[in-house]
Amino acid sequence: METKPKNLIIACLALLFLIGQTGCISSDLPNENLIPKPVSAIGERGSFDLTDQTNIFVRGDSPEIKRIGQYLADILNPSTKLGIEVKTTDTEPNPGSIYLALLPADAELGEEGYELDITSKSISLTANFPSGLFHGIQTIRQLLPARVEKKEGQKGPWKISNGIIRDYPAYSYRGSMLDVARHFFSVDEVKRFIDHLAFYKMNVLHLHLSDDQGWRIEIKSWPNLTAHGGKTEVGGSDGGYYTQKQYSELVKYAEDQYITIIPEIDMPGHTNAALASYGVLNCDGKASELYTGVEVGFSSLCTHKEITYKFINDVVGELAAITPGPYIHIGGDESHSTPIEDYIPFVNRVQEIVTLHGKKVLGWDEIALSTLKPNAVVQYWSKTENAIKGLAQGAKVLMSPAKNAYLDMQYDSISMFGLHWAGYIEVDDGYNWDPARLVPEIRKENIIGIEAPLWSETVSNITEAEYLIFPRLPGYAEVGWTPSEKRNWGDYISRLAHHRERWKAMGINFYPSKLVPWK
Ligand code: ACM
Repeated sequence: METKPKNLIIACLALLFLIGQTGCISSDLPNENLIPKPVSAIGERGSFDLTDQTNIFVRGDSPEIKRIGQYLADILNPSTKLGIEVKTTDTEPNPGSIYLALLPADAELGEEGYELDITSKSISLTANFPSGLFHGIQTIRQLLPARVEKKEGQKGPWKISNGIIRDYPAYSYRGSMLDVARHFFSVDEVKRFIDHLAFYKMNVLHLHLSDDQGWRIEIKSWPNLTAHGGKTEVGGSDGGYYTQKQYSELVKYAEDQYITIIPEIDMPGHTNAALASYGVLNCDGKASELYTGVEVGFSSLCTHKEITYKFINDVVGELAAITPGPYIHIGGDESHSTPIEDYIPFVNRVQEIVTLHGKKVLGWDEIALSTLKPNAVVQYWSKTENAIKGLAQGAKVLMSPAKNAYLDMQYDSISMFGLHWAGYIEVDDGYNWDPARLVPEIRKENIIGIEAPLWSETVSNITEAEYLIFPRLPGYAEVGWTPSEKRNWGDYISRLAHHRERWKAMGINFYPSKLVPWK
């Protein structure tokens, strides 16, 4: 378990030199179709077989590690029918088993890294923290045949090539955003999206909870936001909203997969649903009409009214109380109906409110026009000069450049769903960019990570959304996880091609891009 890849290579080379034995370097492990590509994978001869003797042993008595073990068992058992059980042990497990243990002493692996040692006798997965074990389990899933993801019994064998993987992410924030305001997505649909993120080792789900077309989170002190403002969605069909209980259920579901939910209340623009729900939030005191179109930039909270800040304080307070994650996203984008001389003091005051509720501020790049709080993060989507203004104030940047990272852009002019105002984003455009090289002024040390937003003007359910999400999401996961010097388009698409089988086994809808040599 303690063998480091470097030691293994030295041992192999010594063996090669002494007796001409090359077996130690032969294995398929480095050529497996893992996404994101691991930092290091070294093969050894032979393979591990899951059999009816296999169980998952968890070192110590941690309920959290047992839960992670059970998560793996629940994936393996329906298809393999091997009746794999989770057991605890204080010693080395029985031969033939999978062993999960926290060994918190490996600085290189950091918070989310893991080491996977596969021998013909056992699979040993170790990490400093539970999140590392969870990511390692996604690797184990991807090393097994795609049919392991099916819910009905499948034929074996269930072999995994021997070797050692050591793996950890390039960026600590690897996320996606789901716009549940333009079209509402049910709790189960959001859970399904969370599962997709976890499978590719992403760790943030940003929920865009309010916009002109709908308010989607229950605020107990302002009940009309959802009772009225949540009624409809783009196109005029029924909308919906999450009760605080449902939102908490999503937070917990995500947390169990080491994903942080970041809630966004977009303001001062993109606020028609709130303005339609409460006349008092409008400068003229009159509630606006509900809106089911897709134009942007026409709405604004009334920045001069004191009630506006009471409203924001109530909303942020209720949301902060049910959000364990560190950030509240305040939007701030496309506030075309808010004069800049009103916008700046407004954003300053909203940042104050968020901070008073114990949260850090995240906002679209326009918020850098204001005076940023220390720890505020600027989400770069559109204007380089805004991101640079943020950097000049000491802020970190979250990379979501629309031209590269927007999951709602069409693949090409004839692909179903999506918009194209930022361009067409084929699978290669989504993959072939380096967050640390896109803008000369934004360097790796300025970047907390990447996020691929999915705006939902054109998609009304998760199946339609999946067409935009796949096959691009795995690319964003790799951009965020794998060191850029280890990423290569040709190698990536040959791995991606094999994931179709997995998506089919999981019932995932996807766009069959011609750029990928599908297997
Ligand atoms: C945005 O796409 N309006 C942030």
